[in-house]
Amino acid sequence: MQVDKIVTNVTNLQRSGKSLAKIPLMSETSQLSFAELEAKVARLTQELEQTRQELRDILGANNSIAAALFRSEERLRLIIDTIPAQISYFDHDQIYRYANKGYSNWFNLPRSEVIGASIVRVWGEESYQAIRPYILRALSGETVTHEYTLPCHGGRQVDARSTLVPEINPDGTPVGCFEFSFDITETRRMQAALAQAQKMEAIGQLTGGVAHDFNNLLTIICGNLSMLKERFPERTDMRELVEPSLRAASRGAQLVQGLLSFSRQQPLKPVVVDVGKLILDMQPLIRHSLPSSIQFRVLLSGEALHLLIDPGQLESALLNFALNARDAMPEGGELIIRARPGVLSESEARPHKLEPGPYILIEVTDTGCGMEEATRNRVFEPFFTTKGFGRGSGLGLSMIYGFARQSGGSIGVTSLPDKGSTFSLILPPAPPGSHEESRPEEAGLVRAHPGDLVLLVEDEPDVRHVVREQLLDLGYLVLEAENGNQAGEILAQVAEITVILTDVIMPGGINGREFARQALKERPGLHVVLMSGYDQAAAPGQGDGFAPRLLEKPFSKRRLADALKPGD
Ligand SMILES: Nc1ncnc2c1ncn2[C@@H]1O[C@H](COP(=O)(O)OP(=O)(O)OP(=O)(O)O)[C@@H](O)[C@H]1O
Ligand SMILES: [Mg+2]
Repeated sequence: MQVDKIVTNVTNLQRSGKSLAKIPLMSETSQLSFAELEAKVARLTQELEQTRQELRDILGANNSIAAALFRSEERLRLIIDTIPAQISYFDHDQIYRYANKGYSNWFNLPRSEVIGASIVRVWGEESYQAIRPYILRALSGETVTHEYTLPCHGGRQVDARSTLVPEINPDGTPVGCFEFSFDITETRRMQAALAQAQKMEAIGQLTGGVAHDFNNLLTIICGNLSMLKERFPERTDMRELVEPSLRAASRGAQLVQGLLSFSRQQPLKPVVVDVGKLILDMQPLIRHSLPSSIQFRVLLSGEALHLLIDPGQLESALLNFALNARDAMPEGGELIIRARPGVLSESEARPHKLEPGPYILIEVTDTGCGMEEATRNRVFEPFFTTKGFGRGSGLGLSMIYGFARQSGGSIGVTSLPDKGSTFSLILPPAPPGSHEESRPEEAGLVRAHPGDLVLLVEDEPDVRHVVREQLLDLGYLVLEAENGNQAGEILAQVAEITVILTDVIMPGGINGREFARQALKERPGLHVVLMSGYDQAAAPGQGDGFAPRLLEKPFSKRRLADALKPGD
């Protein structure tokens, strides 16, 4: 600026036309000739002009450096504000000196209210006390990482992981601390969901195995007790002992049934079902099981939604949900059952171990007592109940869980204490082109008549004994085999056999289902019944069109008679 002024003054002098000779510049210059003076001034003027140009260039360069710096700072600020991390810096007095946008958003404060404020003021006393030990460690020079839950605005809870990196002076004293924080709510949720799915898988395998053995035991117990009762009708003293035992055994059978549902090993009978229609059909029954203090509504999306499922299982699932909702609303409230189509994204499907894509959602919402996290995490475990002895077996939801998984879907729950609960059944839609209510054809059109010869195939000798006795009681003639190969040999030799009653899981290579299928191929007139409460191999819908009649273990003589009955 100074240079500009001098140059301007000199230029003005020249323009004014005053003779420079008359101006006493300096004593020595006054002795210079006019021409010399003029030349000197011209040279000086030129030098000044040149300097001014250089300064202008420097200034220009400075400006563009400043602009570039500004742009780069802006970009950096934008990056720091948009990266999914919360970044701050606080000094030794625990006063914030920097906070990115994400950080101040966490606390729902403008950045200006975070910067300059103390940590305790921004976090609140309670949250601050929880993180204080880590802050003190960081301010003493240690890099610390810790995880915590932060109550955020709108009642939202954020799970976060923070790393505190101290800033250390050259003399070694920490002067402040950088904080890098990440929202790990979603990661934690995914991890928990995966761990939960694995846990359920493990429990399912365990219970499935136990239930299988129990079914055989119960078949023996129930069968023998029933026979005892029938064979000594005059012994009332014995009946008093036998009847409670029979009741206990059939209660045991119900529990095992629940376990099998949970472990996805109950034989399902899937047919194409219009969900809306099924729910509307269930509506009166559900309404009757609720007190008048509970309002009940069904909300259906307009279109027909078709599922390929066992309708009996879905009905009992809906009833189970409704009874749980009733128990959760002793003071009354509202129960809503909704059915709608939905699409699961990759991240929504993964925790359920499902493929992303279209599903049908059945949501059951109540306004009841809701659940704490600890309860919520365990509701699908078999035998988990909060209802006290005799009031709940804790199998309702685990059965629904097993049914949903076995049907190619899943189940989820959202619930908070005193805020009600929503259970969501996620089920795959029926494959296109199958929109007809259809029941699988049962094989074995010819039914057995009393007096017919039954080939009984069962590897467990005590079970075989009980079933044989029941068959004899029903008037059948019985041939026994203990595995599929033996049964095949007997069948080849005895043409009079008209009925095959076979267990499914058997040692010795060929299982009951396979044996029955081969037998029917060779002798299409045979009446085939599979005994099982357990193995999926017994279930129809395996794509081979072979859907024999099923008799679930343990069974009473009446159910055995029904299964062998000609005609229905
Ligand atoms: N709608 C709900 N609201 C609150 N808690 C629920 C709800 N549904 C289930 N629960 C909780 O989940 C637990 C397990 O439910 P589940 O239906 O599996 O068994 P249960 O109802 O206790 O017994 P069961 O159904 O075998 O008679 C319940 O004891 C209850 O604590
Ligand atoms: Mg229940």
